[in-house]
Amino acid sequence: MKKLIKNIGQLVTYDETAKEMVVLKNVEMAINDGIVSEISTDLFSPEMEIIDAKGHVVTPGFVDPHTHPVFYQTREKEFAMRVAGKDYMEIAAAGGGIKASAKQLREGDPKILEQQVKKYIDRFFCFGTTTIEAKSGYGLSTESELRSLHILKKFKEEHDLDIYTTFLGAHEYPQEYKDDHGTYIDIIVGEMLPKVVKEGLAEFCDVFCEEGVFNVEETRRILEPAKSLGLGIRIHADEFKPIGGVQLAAKLGAFSVDHLIASEDDSIDAMITGKVVPIVLPATTFFLGKDKYAPARRMWDKGLPVALATDFNPGSSMTMSMQFVITTACLKLGLLPLESLQAATYNAALSLRITDKVGSLAKGKQADFLIWDFDNYQGIPYHLAALPVPKVFKKGKKVWEFNK
Ligand code: NIG
Ligand code: FE
Repeated sequence: MKKLIKNIGQLVTYDETAKEMVVLKNVEMAINDGIVSEISTDLFSPEMEIIDAKGHVVTPGFVDPHTHPVFYQTREKEFAMRVAGKDYMEIAAAGGGIKASAKQLREGDPKILEQQVKKYIDRFFCFGTTTIEAKSGYGLSTESELRSLHILKKFKEEHDLDIYTTFLGAHEYPQEYKDDHGTYIDIIVGEMLPKVVKEGLAEFCDVFCEEGVFNVEETRRILEPAKSLGLGIRIHADEFKPIGGVQLAAKLGAFSVDHLIASEDDSIDAMITGKVVPIVLPATTFFLGKDKYAPARRMWDKGLPVALATDFNPGSSMTMSMQFVITTACLKLGLLPLESLQAATYNAALSLRITDKVGSLAKGKQADFLIWDFDNYQGIPYHLAALPVPKVFKKGKKVWEFNK
């Protein structure tokens, strides 16, 4: 099936030859069987279905490289507690946080869990997100972590959204092992990881490396075997304290380090040496009601391919909107609109090593694209708390439309 997107006001995408974002005018985009076949002028041929962009902006679909969509219940009570002055880590230490979500997921009805996950997976398209990375991590037992990953696998096979899956059994210590970290790590390494790999349930393994959660040595004990088993490595690091997670990531050849609010120059240098993609999550800082954001401008200026993600999760970032993340990146991280757009598309794809397929619009890539309802790409961060993205296409197929 051949399609032609005509009347494009601006086609904004990363150009791999020029190694920068480009704003193309007066071009058309031809699609053949879900793949971009050409971006040029005068591409019409009679067998093509025409899609009229009406002079508006066309961008690649967003790639969200850090989400936690497998949770049973929301945690709005914690939000209210934070507004009243309690700190995120204080709430977690008092039995809230990830531990509370783990209790809910373990005790909850598996059918309802699957419905909840489906509800969120379905919604990503409305926000213009066409590819996600999705983590487990609210089970914290072999059975419930595998159950979480099986749900993701099902949607990976059945849903139009592209889903890349991460095993995050080391998201927190479960209540029963809070004073016996060694045994929980033995279970992760001896039981969970081999099953995850044998059943083909994940591409990546991640650990929340933070003071009061997994220290650097504990993180290493999990990620070295994960890497030997063939999983790509991602680490939640430098969120609150820079305890050395980034340096470990660099040593392990991790795909990404994520959060990085507390990163100093030594962490930035380690990312450069280790060629690790920094994923920054400004919606999380915002949602936690904090003022200190990741030093993304400094990272960008040092040549790092900074990526943006929502960190969608019920505790620290209850949003699926990459558009909001882009606005926040402009206002709080000092990234320019075009840089933020690169971070939310191409660099995000780079952090998953899938730029051959998604993250930019060029010949041979998937036709994952958004048609906006304005004619200048600067409208993307400018339209704050905006309505859903008007038109979203995945592999050339329209998967979402909002006409208001
Ligand atoms: O990425 N930082 C650790 N994990 C999540 C929060 C999870 C939660 O509070 O439920 C995050 O922000
Ligand atoms: Fe996270």
